[in-house]
Amino acid sequence: MLNDISSLQSYLSTRRSGRPAQMTATGPDTDTLYTMIEMALRTPDHGKLAPWRFTVIDKERREDFKALLTNAFLTEHPSASDSQIETACKMASYAPSLVILIYSPKESKIPEIEQILSTGAVGMNFLHAAHIRGFVGSWITGWPAYDEIIRQSFCKENERIAGFFYVGISDTIISERPRPIASEHISHW
Ligand SMILES: Cc1cc2nc3c(=O)[nH]c(=O)nc-3n(C[C@H](O)[C@H](O)[C@H](O)COP(=O)(O)O)c2cc1C
Repeated sequence: MLNDISSLQSYLSTRRSGRPAQMTATGPDTDTLYTMIEMALRTPDHGKLAPWRFTVIDKERREDFKALLTNAFLTEHPSASDSQIETACKMASYAPSLVILIYSPKESKIPEIEQILSTGAVGMNFLHAAHIRGFVGSWITGWPAYDEIIRQSFCKENERIAGFFYVGISDTIISERPRPIASEHISHW
């Protein structure tokens, strides 16, 4: 069983992301989402810089988000066909809940890599927070995370999109993917 939340040990041993396109059922309400974000922000953060923030794409803004993706995609691919646009922008409609994790580095003596690592930890924590609430989450970047029009729509000059996080309930039984064999990634010095 994947995402077995009967104990912390079983959960961490069975954690599995869902597929955004298969998250069709209800997502968290606003209070639950805020609680999940609060849990996510309980993350290691050298220098207490908080080099991260979340932007929630509310349900009623999904069409606006799709229009933004379409505009950005057409700017890069002016002769794209309708079906290419549809494929490229369908991520705007996935899942009941969508939040963007933004990497927001701070001027500091703390090396940038530590701020990036802290942002990754927030992302991982957010997935855990979704899963322990009985939802399934997914962390996707895709082309929009690296598109300048999209970046400028959500980020200040020094910020970047760390990922789009989808939350919902999967309409399909989630299957396992190949996992790393730990011994192949461990050495002793
Ligand atoms: C920073 C980051 C960006 C990702 N972007 C994508 C993506 O654009 N498309 C995709 O299919 N998976 C992407 N993934 C992988 C999925 O989030 C997920 O890890 C994968 O489906 C494996 O699921 P798991 O979390 O159960 O291991 C990304 C993962 C990370 C950490």
